Amino acid sequence: MLNFDTKYGLVPKEKLPNILAKLKPVIEHMRRVSEHKDYSDDYSSINLAFDNANIENARLLARKYSKADAVVVIGIGGSNLGTMAVQEGLFGKLWNSTEWKPKVFYADTVDPNNIGGIIHVVESMLLQGKEVLINIVSKSGTITEIIANAQIFISLLSTHGKDASEYVVVTTDRNSKLWNVAKQCGLSVLEIPQKVGGRYSVLSAVGLFPLAVAGIDVEKICAGAAKMRDICLQENNIAAISAAHLYYHHKNKKKIHDTFLFSTDLESLGNWYRQLMAESLGKRQDVSRKIVNAGMTPIVSIGTTDLHSMFQLYMGGPVDKFTTFVTVDEKKDITVTEVKAFNTLVPEINKKKLGEIRNAAAEGVMHCYKKNKLPFVHIHLPARSEETIGAFLQMKMMEVMFLGRLWNVNAFDQPEVEKYKAETRKILGR
Ligand code: PA5
Repeated sequence: MLNFDTKYGLVPKEKLPNILAKLKPVIEHMRRVSEHKDYSDDYSSINLAFDNANIENARLLARKYSKADAVVVIGIGGSNLGTMAVQEGLFGKLWNSTEWKPKVFYADTVDPNNIGGIIHVVESMLLQGKEVLINIVSKSGTITEIIANAQIFISLLSTHGKDASEYVVVTTDRNSKLWNVAKQCGLSVLEIPQKVGGRYSVLSAVGLFPLAVAGIDVEKICAGAAKMRDICLQENNIAAISAAHLYYHHKNKKKIHDTFLFSTDLESLGNWYRQLMAESLGKRQDVSRKIVNAGMTPIVSIGTTDLHSMFQLYMGGPVDKFTTFVTVDEKKDITVTEVKAFNTLVPEINKKKLGEIRNAAAEGVMHCYKKNKLPFVHIHLPARSEETIGAFLQMKMMEVMFLGRLWNVNAFDQPEVEKYKAETRKILGR
């Protein structure tokens, strides 16, 4: 499903079992959570991929919008990054420029230029009589940016004679303020299970509904995630081993975790993980309220693009990083066509495929890391598919949960984020 290579992880052999032993109680706990199949525990998101009602509800409602020409996902952070990661990972970043539909737009922040661009495209689609679905996604239902964008897009629909009850779907917590308002307005509502926090919610209606509308087989995503969940409930599983590497190197002065993906279209998957790690583990206090300022700074690099941007620093600069390389096998490849006059410029590439060249670069980079004794692990996706991406998502969510336990921090809250929300609202209310 996923190949995970730790050969160059540079964790001393005798250390790994000790770190993994620390994870036994949390694995035990997670096994118990998996038996209850409900959503009353912080770790409950590990049950989502097995929850047929969760998958079916999202698919059923999505079927109603199977003819949609566009979907606008209004959500931020954990409420849109997972959707974007899967959709771009499978369809590619250029999806909206192809002839395929539905187009997928993400309205997350309150950037007048960016939101203005989406309004422009959506408006012209509405003028052509096209069908545009708005999916408002917010667990709390009170995020300033999201409610601002929701109001703008609902008004846009109504200006064009579209009934919000037909074209707006709200995904939120049962009985949040947004839930109640949506119900009063007769909008369709999908529920986010109680203890499933934003960054662990991609396999709930948060991700599954818009992905199903986009035409992605969400059952397969959950099948990949479910297999991985069961693997990661075993002792010494790959998520635990990955967490153990991060834990060890963080203790040994590697304060940065670089997810280095050799795939342009998997960049958003890297960004999804960046948020997952940063928000879950960047904590001022540990669970006993001791000030620890925990965290490891996650960064995302893309091969081969960043070889011409960041690689010099990675090789020559501070030795403060641990790297997870991610590579993927592609179904389709492109042969470098022959242009006689160019043949002598880089003769090694003649008749080679782009994927082959990219693989050679990835191998070359890992070789350089090895030579420089820079620690890394390597995740290989044998295909760009729903199953492998589902498995990757689940593995990483469990890796972060394990790291939370190793660092003794609450991986499920985000107290600092709450502070900016309060400040912003205070300023706006002046
Ligand atoms: O992961 C998280 O919990 C956060 O990133 C939230 O998803 C983000 O702050 C958006 O919050 P909400 O879903 O309440 O709109």
